[in-house]
Amino acid sequence: MKFNESLALRSGVVLRNRLVMAPMTIVSSFHDGTVTKEEIQHYAMRSKGLGAVITGTANVTDNGKGWPGELTIATDEAIGALTQLSEGIHQSGAKAILQIFHAGRMTSQKTIGEQPVSASAFAAEIPNAEQPRELDNFEIEAIIEAFGQATRRAIAAGFDGVEIHGANTYLLQQFFSPHSNRRTDEWGGSLEKRAKFPLAVIDRVLAEVKNTAGRPFAVGYRLSPVEITEPGIKFEDTLWLVEQLKAKELDYLHLSLKHFGRKSNDKNYQDKSELAYIHDALKGRVPLIGVGGVRSLEDVEGLLENAEFAAIGQQLLIDPEFAVKLIAKRTDEIISKPFGEAIQDLPMPHPMFKYLEKRYQ
Ligand SMILES: Cc1cc2nc3c(=O)[nH]c(=O)nc-3n(C[C@H](O)[C@H](O)[C@H](O)COP(=O)(O)O)c2cc1C
Repeated sequence: MKFNESLALRSGVVLRNRLVMAPMTIVSSFHDGTVTKEEIQHYAMRSKGLGAVITGTANVTDNGKGWPGELTIATDEAIGALTQLSEGIHQSGAKAILQIFHAGRMTSQKTIGEQPVSASAFAAEIPNAEQPRELDNFEIEAIIEAFGQATRRAIAAGFDGVEIHGANTYLLQQFFSPHSNRRTDEWGGSLEKRAKFPLAVIDRVLAEVKNTAGRPFAVGYRLSPVEITEPGIKFEDTLWLVEQLKAKELDYLHLSLKHFGRKSNDKNYQDKSELAYIHDALKGRVPLIGVGGVRSLEDVEGLLENAEFAAIGQQLLIDPEFAVKLIAKRTDEIISKPFGEAIQDLPMPHPMFKYLEKRYQ
């Protein structure tokens, strides 16, 4: 598949090519989650040549905020500055997709001013994880509604779509995971019951688009294929979930991976990459975005053997013109230095620099 072919999504949103910016928080919003000028510049600078930019994640409720400097879409007040963000991305002709989420237990009392919430009162198995409080039925329904309201705001702010963040161990994944979800009511237990919350969020978001968009507006879903904890999400659970997702009117699925060629940790699924298994399972019904480790034209081409779109993360941080260089066949100009070294040369918001410096130490 050629990376510079356009593709029309189910909703009618057309991406001019197969290159998208992977969602990356840049920890540079104001303390209340309002978009800053630096963030708008950061995205505008990197959107050139891309089919779409997926923004860093935005919390749909105040208690869903994961870390300081994250975007918010929890109130109507956020719409004004988010409109400037979508306009900044649109300047280059890229589509603007806002990623929306709830962090669940992957946050702290310090960040949200109250005890974090989750499917069950089980802490994550990571250093300094805090014990969350189990959400009650009423709160679960309120969060589903909050995803709908966030979608309404993203539409009002001029975005071309939302990506529901069901990956990277945040709340949607916490409901699907047998590690974080130990409930025995309608929201937990069997695979079907654990999938009920993420599927209800998708339905609510799709209903909002149907009722209020009045123009093509895409809805994507991001998921992580496995968990390493015991119990945890197994690759075959994910293949089951993919079948459920296939039945929804989604514009795309997006697999969150550290490397696009990664194989599953399940010995029964070693014939090909996780991306290839899921791409084959989708049978062309829903376009797939792959991600992880793309740094060259060969990587883009290798990834696109098993996906319709290639998402590029860190390479775009250090090489804002990566897509432009690919399109203009200026591949000899692609920056290939290690990330830690390359970020030293780049203008970027100070909190972002400090965050990345720590990451690449
Ligand atoms: C600084 C940074 C911030 C990230 N923030 C998010 C995020 O907000 N939402 C998300 O789904 N993934 C996030 N990711 C993961 C990326 O989307 C991507 O999956 C990962 O970086 C692998 O792709 P890459 O090798 O091209 O960077 C983040 C990654 C980085 C490096």
